[in-house]
Amino acid sequence: MAILVVGGAGYIGSHTARALRHAGYDVILYDNLSTGSRRLAQGFELIEADIADAATLRPALARADALMHFAAHAYVGESVENPRKYFRNNVTAALTLLNSALEAGIRRIVFSSSCAVYGVPRQIPITEETNREPVNPYGASKLFFENALEAYSRAYGLRSVRLRYFNAAGADESGEIGELHNPETHLIPLALAATASGRELQIYGSDYDTQDGTCVRDYIHVNDLADAHMRALQYLESADQNAVQSLALNLGTGRGHSVLEIVEAAETATGRPVRRSVRPRRAGDPPILIADPAKAQSVLGWTAKRNLPEIISSAWAWMQSASRRRAA
Ligand code: UFG
Repeated sequence: MAILVVGGAGYIGSHTARALRHAGYDVILYDNLSTGSRRLAQGFELIEADIADAATLRPALARADALMHFAAHAYVGESVENPRKYFRNNVTAALTLLNSALEAGIRRIVFSSSCAVYGVPRQIPITEETNREPVNPYGASKLFFENALEAYSRAYGLRSVRLRYFNAAGADESGEIGELHNPETHLIPLALAATASGRELQIYGSDYDTQDGTCVRDYIHVNDLADAHMRALQYLESADQNAVQSLALNLGTGRGHSVLEIVEAAETATGRPVRRSVRPRRAGDPPILIADPAKAQSVLGWTAKRNLPEIISSAWAWMQSASRRRAA
């Protein structure tokens, strides 16, 4: 069975591609390498093209039995400054992908959605029934595609699982692939980099209504996300005609960690201090985001297996191997 992994040279796509191959699937990567990296695609067939390119999509989709869609711009701040870029890729181009998949006869899609579809939730932990009220163009673009999948499932019988990630983090335990963002804006790699370089970490806000005043997030290991994608695919393969046609699932651990807890965990993992300074709040940051992952457990039999120290130590091992490679 062949899976087209669109955005497969990116952070979460590349980890999922490995998990799929390990489970015996044929994997074809499709990525325009705008944010993805050839390094993360090593060892796989890679079709280097854009999701707006229907002519290249057509023969690629014709070879696939199912589609996984990871190809999106994913910086919240950038989406506020440049919404056009986000709607062009995450909505317009993504619809070209969806329509091409439909025309190619694909009836199973696993989609990378985000907890950003919830905006600033009124209740914690967040269940899938929480209102979807995104507060930035990135979240709005993810919600648009979710709505399209729901409509396509009703109208055309196209089955989908929409996986709403909380904060993806960590790296494959092999040290061969991991998080590669340019620019890097995420807390865990920046905190680890601060221990190595002595550069100061900026803490965005210490006056939130949380245990220590800093924002709380639900960090989930990228290989736990990869495992959930495999299970989502198996769910779509199951012949159960009563199964939900377009299913949304939260992927998180159900545990929250504050920014300061992450800083301490980075210090523990590396044995070095993180120099830090407190800055004003970052626009658009909800104070607390924690998943209720019960539905993913009951429907897919999935739970996160890796804890925060494992997330941080795998991210650190990846950063060290990447810097060794650069030095070599
Ligand atoms: N933070 C800092 N300093 C930094 C970087 C981050 O204090 O240098 C804080 C942020 O303010 C936030 C927390 O660390 O409170 C986590 O920030 P990240 O940038 O690592 O992650 P986000 O929570 O902003 O982003 C994640 C996903 C997005 C998703 C978003 C939903 O990466 O894809 O959650 O809110 F859209």
